Amino acid sequence: MEKQYRAVRGTRDILPGEVARWRFLERTVREVFARYGFREIRTPLLEATELFARTVGEGSDIVRKEMYTFARGDESVSLRPENTASVVRAFVEHALHRGIAAGFPERYFYMGPMFRHERPQKGRQRQFHQIGVEVLGAPEPLCDAETLEMLCTFLDALGIGERELVLNSVGDARCRPEFREALRAWIEPRLPKLCEDCRRRYAENPMRVFDCKVEEDQALLRGAPVVADHLCGECRDHFDAVRRAVDAYGIPHRIDARMVRGLDYYQRTVFEVTSSSSSLGAQNAILGGGRYDGLVEELGGPPIPGFGFAAGMERLLMLLPEGRNEAKECDVLIVALGAEGFRASVGMARRLRASGLRVVVPLSERPMGAQLKRADKVGARFALFVGEAELASGRFGLKNLTTGEQVEVEEHGIVTLAGEGHGR
Ligand code: HAM
Repeated sequence: MEKQYRAVRGTRDILPGEVARWRFLERTVREVFARYGFREIRTPLLEATELFARTVGEGSDIVRKEMYTFARGDESVSLRPENTASVVRAFVEHALHRGIAAGFPERYFYMGPMFRHERPQKGRQRQFHQIGVEVLGAPEPLCDAETLEMLCTFLDALGIGERELVLNSVGDARCRPEFREALRAWIEPRLPKLCEDCRRRYAENPMRVFDCKVEEDQALLRGAPVVADHLCGECRDHFDAVRRAVDAYGIPHRIDARMVRGLDYYQRTVFEVTSSSSSLGAQNAILGGGRYDGLVEELGGPPIPGFGFAAGMERLLMLLPEGRNEAKECDVLIVALGAEGFRASVGMARRLRASGLRVVVPLSERPMGAQLKRADKVGARFALFVGEAELASGRFGLKNLTTGEQVEVEEHGIVTLAGEGHGR
């Protein structure tokens, strides 16, 4: 027997039957984000490896062990493990800061595949998809709060209510070094009790110990100093203002003084949205993000602040309530009755399609029952009966497959009725 091939471990096919859910999600992203002035940006899947090492961080799990990296000639490139670095790279490369005025930042969103060589499990893949937003040029705490408000509107529009927003501040380049040293001093006598990875983290960047998944380490680290106690005055003021604005928007949230996030570029506000829903398995983070005020400069641009988040699309889809993806994929299934109906139905299909309808017509003569049985499979909204009698009278039976109601209409009536609310 010939060898059968399977999708690479950690990757998945998205089959036609699932696509309606994906499109519903994508449509909701476009609709909601547009209301807040976000515009789409598309960057390449491949970037210089160094871009991620510089931004996500040499010491981060992502760069240390999860990137798909390969050499071509003397270039080292990687499949993007995330997209903030790429968007900021594009922002600097194309001098997009020229579009910014005080109070009016650039607002971008993106959707697409990311690649991380992690151990696959429920809710965790090696090729996964993110929806993300990046706001460049807004130092104001109101930017953090408004973006969080958009995020809640978006999750509400998807019907994902079972969720928790967790907020923290990780300080900035001024106050973090002091925290890092306080943490290092606390860890030092406990080093022998920590795992090997944590010992390396201690030397490179002690804040990364909070990424550790070893339970004993996690328990021990619960006694560690917290970054929130080491904020400088400006970072504290910023965080207080964010909290006030978030409260003013009425956004429920919890502060977790221990949350640091696994990417190095964050400064000040960081946040995650988690869900306790069992459909996510062990992966409870739906999305994460924060402020990255030093990143544009780090990549050779002017000192322009940034703020954003990214959500895992597979995880959002796992939480999407049933019935949220009701958009049908076909407007009219033509049911051809008898030889004459069959002959006429091809021409009918062509005319209806020319009017913009999505039409499926059988390619061979079949009994009526067999044709109607396909209605669900093709996702049809209406069945249109085309037979000798209908052709003679010029009036056709049009059955609404959702309500079961059937009417008799002339050809132009089909276009009117089936064209209404066809929700693409
Ligand atoms: P992140 O926390 O690394 O942040 O990823 C964001 C989200 O992507 C996670 O909360 C999760 O839903 C999803 N995700 C991550 N890894 C996987 C995986 N292996 N399988 C399935 N889903 C996954 C970032 O990527 C930042 N760039 C977010 C950001 C944007 N910060 C500022 N702007």
